[in-house]
Amino acid sequence: MSEKRSTLDKVMEVSLRRGLVFPTAEIYGGFAGVYDFGPVGSFLRENLINFWLQYFVKTEIDPPVYLLSGGTVLPFEVLKASGHVDHFVDPIVSCSSPECKTEFRADHLIEDATGQFVEGLDEQELTRIIRENNIRCPNCDSELADVTIFNLMLATKVGAGKGTVAYMRPETAQIMFLDFKRTAISMRAKLPFGIAQVGSSYRNEISPRKGLIRLREFEQMEIEMFVDPATLNEQPNFDEIKNVKLRLLTREGQEKEPQEILEITADESVKQNILPNQYFAYYLAKETVFYTRCGIPRDKFRFRHMKPEETPHYSGGNWDLEIELPRGENSQIVEIVGNAYRQAYDLGNHAKHSGEDLSIETENGENIIAHVVEPSFGVDRSTHCILEHCFREKGVDRDWTWFQFPNVIAPISVQVYPLMRKDGMPEKARDIYVKLKKDAGFNAIYDQAGSIGRRYARADEIGCPYCLTIDYTTLEDDSVTIRDRDSMKQIRVPLSKLVDILRQLLEENIKFAEAGQPV
Ligand code: GAP
Repeated sequence: MSEKRSTLDKVMEVSLRRGLVFPTAEIYGGFAGVYDFGPVGSFLRENLINFWLQYFVKTEIDPPVYLLSGGTVLPFEVLKASGHVDHFVDPIVSCSSPECKTEFRADHLIEDATGQFVEGLDEQELTRIIRENNIRCPNCDSELADVTIFNLMLATKVGAGKGTVAYMRPETAQIMFLDFKRTAISMRAKLPFGIAQVGSSYRNEISPRKGLIRLREFEQMEIEMFVDPATLNEQPNFDEIKNVKLRLLTREGQEKEPQEILEITADESVKQNILPNQYFAYYLAKETVFYTRCGIPRDKFRFRHMKPEETPHYSGGNWDLEIELPRGENSQIVEIVGNAYRQAYDLGNHAKHSGEDLSIETENGENIIAHVVEPSFGVDRSTHCILEHCFREKGVDRDWTWFQFPNVIAPISVQVYPLMRKDGMPEKARDIYVKLKKDAGFNAIYDQAGSIGRRYARADEIGCPYCLTIDYTTLEDDSVTIRDRDSMKQIRVPLSKLVDILRQLLEENIKFAEAGQPV
């Protein structure tokens, strides 16, 4: 195949071939905007979620972050109150040719054709810009119809007969607002505290694209941090992250040519009133650490301050974590985390529409509506960016493509090989494999097919950091070789210490070269 293919094409080809990502309903021609994670990809996704839970939820003590797992179908009233029924819309324009009829997101189409930023303009203004610039259907060059507005929620009906209208949730966040009071009472929680959730969300995206960037069913990891507004600059753990340097693309920085990134510590960003408060800066700092550890180079991401026309009226500040994908000249920027200071909007609105008192008592004995700081992560988009950034081209240091996944998210940690299929090596290798998988709990694969070189290549292709080989020396002295994916070097270690050494290597507590005898 031609090496001119984009990184995206190459990544999607390996993903399909090696069990990372499959199109849903592929045998029926696929289903746009929905993907399945395959046997290898499911572990990558699971490791990413577990790392997130560990770093953002389970290790948070003061303030605590409680985990929920809520319903995915919500009644009309909830989404009316949240504003989704009336405002969760995109402008859509379709081709007027009866043979084509393709639909496009009008703002994206205009931005692609003119470079003009048009988010927030109404349908009349968008139609005018299309006419003035003579923008035509990119598929067949026919004239485009007028722009209309399209609600992005997936509606359904529940109950027998005519049923009642309900929606697949467009974000996990609403559950955290709906369960705010129950969580506070059941956990005897006082402000500040957070509620987190990992789960599916659904949006009827107009033009889902290749890969996992714009899906109709996707997974979110969200936290709603509930805070007394009088204490927004008293985040108890702020000292731990205050010196983390953030890469900020401010509104002024966006106007410059080329755009200018501001490198500033979390501490200074609050002191200089660039970010709205310490709770907000705390999450931006933690996201910086998290994504760097997930294998995204720090200079490939930045937090962009949303422009006024992109920012909801109730917001006290919206900054998206955006990642630049390695696409050569056509580099693409993707939002993977939305950070929003939502103030009292959500609880206030649900209190008004439901008639329920959602206020909470502060330390001073005052009843208030809590303010909310929300970091909202996309699992699929994060996975996609990790895939593209960890992808290594064939021909640089080896004759095959490979993924340099950090150990913490690598889908398979270790592969076990008998050098030959004779003299008791397969039996010995299988024993070790069973011990590693069953007793020690490693994600392991046993492989005895083909030459060792080909087996290493297969392991590299799915980003497996370590491969063990059982050879004649193993049969004599109970030692095995470990091959390191990144350096392609090998060491020999005694079987009695194998589990411990592997664990230390995977947790990056020891260096590979120091973990055993060089081979
Ligand atoms: N509760 C706030 C909220 O949902 P958002 O910016 O609409 O904010 C948050 O979404 C994150 O969810 C995005 O940064 C992205 O990672 C992910 N996301 C949103 N729409 C998506 C889609 N159609 N396909 C894949 N991921 C999506």
